[in-house]
Amino acid sequence: LKEVRVTLVRQEDQSYSAMIGAGILSTALADLAELQPGRRVFVVTDANVKAAGHLDTFANGHEVASYVIDPSGEQSKNMATVMAVLDAMERERFGRDSLVVALGGGTVGDLAGFVAAIFKRGVPYAQAPTTTLAQADSAVGGKVGVDSEWSKNAYGAFKQPCRVYADVATLATMDERGYRAGLVESAKHAMIADAEYFDYLDVKMDLLLRRDRTVLAEIAARNIGIKASVVQKDPEEKGLRQILNFGHTVGHAIETASGFQLLHGEAVALGILAAAKLAEDLGIAHQSERPRMAALLAKLGMPENCPANISDEALWEIMSRDKKAVNSVPRFVLVDRIGHAYCVDDKYSIAVDASLVAKALDAIRP
Ligand code: GLY
Repeated sequence: LKEVRVTLVRQEDQSYSAMIGAGILSTALADLAELQPGRRVFVVTDANVKAAGHLDTFANGHEVASYVIDPSGEQSKNMATVMAVLDAMERERFGRDSLVVALGGGTVGDLAGFVAAIFKRGVPYAQAPTTTLAQADSAVGGKVGVDSEWSKNAYGAFKQPCRVYADVATLATMDERGYRAGLVESAKHAMIADAEYFDYLDVKMDLLLRRDRTVLAEIAARNIGIKASVVQKDPEEKGLRQILNFGHTVGHAIETASGFQLLHGEAVALGILAAAKLAEDLGIAHQSERPRMAALLAKLGMPENCPANISDEALWEIMSRDKKAVNSVPRFVLVDRIGHAYCVDDKYSIAVDASLVAKALDAIRP
């Protein structure tokens, strides 16, 4: 018997900055040329983002290679689209000197980041999020991947971007429904980590819904700050990072069961209401917390009821396949008071008795 040890203890600095402001997309290409000199840029975007003019704004008069995902949205977030993007890069002779830019919402960011993780065994990428969801959440933290036929984000990797450009001016072109749904991730951040931010969202709600750029830049900075503080302690979700999944156990299940008729944020809002009911019934949270959370989500215009055609059984089936489930038993992140995620024995997500989960699902039925 012979043993040859491959010793690979390595710590890599993966730090990066998020730039936040109105109108910064047009200078991102020049900024990237300084940050990553000599790299060939390949933009991944989608039909909606292109039609809104953001690809032209990013290119700023330069010729930039791109792949435009069409149709836009979650139905394209799969391995077939990943293959199509990889093949386009390969056809155009991109190499290890590539730099991928994800220009768009969560779908584009997750998919383009995954392409960057596997193209030529990995090339750098930047995130240029153009939606409230992506600017609050998905563009930061390095979770990249695509959905399988059965569950969300089933195939993926951790790969941090080299820079994030959150241009709040791009949010002006979002449709109202998507704009509001994306703000649920901001509410989520406030609920798990910052009671003062929760009050800020409540007080500034009118300005926020009018897309005031100062407020949008402020919330982008707060969201990214909260997310960064979690991700830098636990980049690969071994513990603390789970709190960012607040509302997502039931939320992902509803989103998937609805065939993506419900937007991610709408489904997560329902998931938050269910998780709040669980925390209340377990005696973890005071009864005052759930109505306050519900009121903020109602101001965002989020649904209060799960669509009637989705059965509890269908939700159970999906929740038990969730990659965060342990032995097919779903886990829930709970909030014990607004601004603070519950933790017991160093665990941030817990298995809950099925009868309580059934009661929580009842709470989001008419
Ligand atoms: N969206 C949750 C996370 O990035 O961990």
